[in-house]
Amino acid sequence: MKAALCTHYGPPEEMEIRDVPSPKPGKNQVLISVKACGVNFPDVLMIQDKYQFKPALPFSPGGEVAGIVKELGEGVSNVKVGDRVCVSTGSGGMAEEVLGDARRVMKVPDGVGFDVASSFMVTYGTSWHALKDRADLKPGENLVVLGAAGGVGTSAIEIGKALGARVIAGASTQEKVDLAKKLGADDGFVYPPVPLNRDQQKQLSEDIKRLTNGQGADVLYDPVGDDYAEPALRAMNWNGRYLVIGFAAGNIPKVPLNLTLLKGCQIVGVFWGAMAARDPKHAADSMQQLLDMVAAGKLKPYVSEHVPLAKAGEAIRMLMDRKAKGKVVVTV
Ligand SMILES: NC(=O)c1ccc[n+]([C@@H]2O[C@H](COP(=O)([O-])OP(=O)(O)OC[C@H]3O[C@@H](n4cnc5c(N)ncnc54)[C@H](OP(=O)(O)O)[C@@H]3O)[C@@H](O)[C@H]2O)c1
Repeated sequence: MKAALCTHYGPPEEMEIRDVPSPKPGKNQVLISVKACGVNFPDVLMIQDKYQFKPALPFSPGGEVAGIVKELGEGVSNVKVGDRVCVSTGSGGMAEEVLGDARRVMKVPDGVGFDVASSFMVTYGTSWHALKDRADLKPGENLVVLGAAGGVGTSAIEIGKALGARVIAGASTQEKVDLAKKLGADDGFVYPPVPLNRDQQKQLSEDIKRLTNGQGADVLYDPVGDDYAEPALRAMNWNGRYLVIGFAAGNIPKVPLNLTLLKGCQIVGVFWGAMAARDPKHAADSMQQLLDMVAAGKLKPYVSEHVPLAKAGEAIRMLMDRKAKGKVVVTV
């Protein structure tokens, strides 16, 4: 079978398409013929050896797939050969075949395409865990989403709206803010690229306050970090929850802790993958709930690009260059 391989750490252009042996499903595993693989920022980090999970070289990036069950390992009874399924794999998805843990595999409902099924698990799982479990977002609260037109950002908008929040989208271009509004955000603002000078930081805080009727954010969803974090924290409402999702803008920010005291707010860490490992039942229940909402049309994951497996590196490059909108999917 063909696989897009990271043979050494480096830029996506150095990935190679190679023929490799088909993997054999072991106990509680299924072999899946991949039809689509969702691309996530961790793929960008993994191929550069900058991510906390480090698959052994050579490996295929791609942490979530949808496809057709090809073969069952010992002890698998929840799916059968020929079923349309999706599963989070962590890596290995940018290939014609991949092994999935049968206990995490979900059947894809009729009417849900492979592209959508392959691209909601990581982002919607993260945002569901963030907004429900970690922030306890309430109807009517102000939710401010940074990086709002990206993968986790667009999922936070949709889930925020589904939970009854007023959603404010922040992004680096007007085009991205417009997309965020099209996907449900009530309002939005444009922020400049890093580094931000003091005036730009002040402006970011003021934009958030202005768009939340002077109150500030009840919940702030931050997948970007860097110079955006401190001005965003300065624009929190009393009792606000500042969600640390990621650091796509590059640097891990350091913030003055007195801000949490002054605002009576919390800084809350969010790590979907680690939560799923610690509490697989809760993660599986969350996933099923989300898939049911997708099947019912209550959530509509936005896939902007379909890239063939032979050009998998280009798909990762789009995220790396801040060009991805919603989700980019590698198709097989
Ligand atoms: N905590 C968790 O459990 C969890 C789970 C999944 C992902 N994440 C993290 O969430 C972040 C976003 O992941 P994603 O898959 O949504 O990625 P994505 O689709 O590429 O979105 C990232 C967004 O970050 C913004 N950004 C700012 N500076 C950037 C830069 N220098 N390069 C690229 N993007 C930049 C971009 O929006 P603007 O151009 O509008 O700023 C972009 O839309 C990553 O840090 C990822 O590791 C965390």
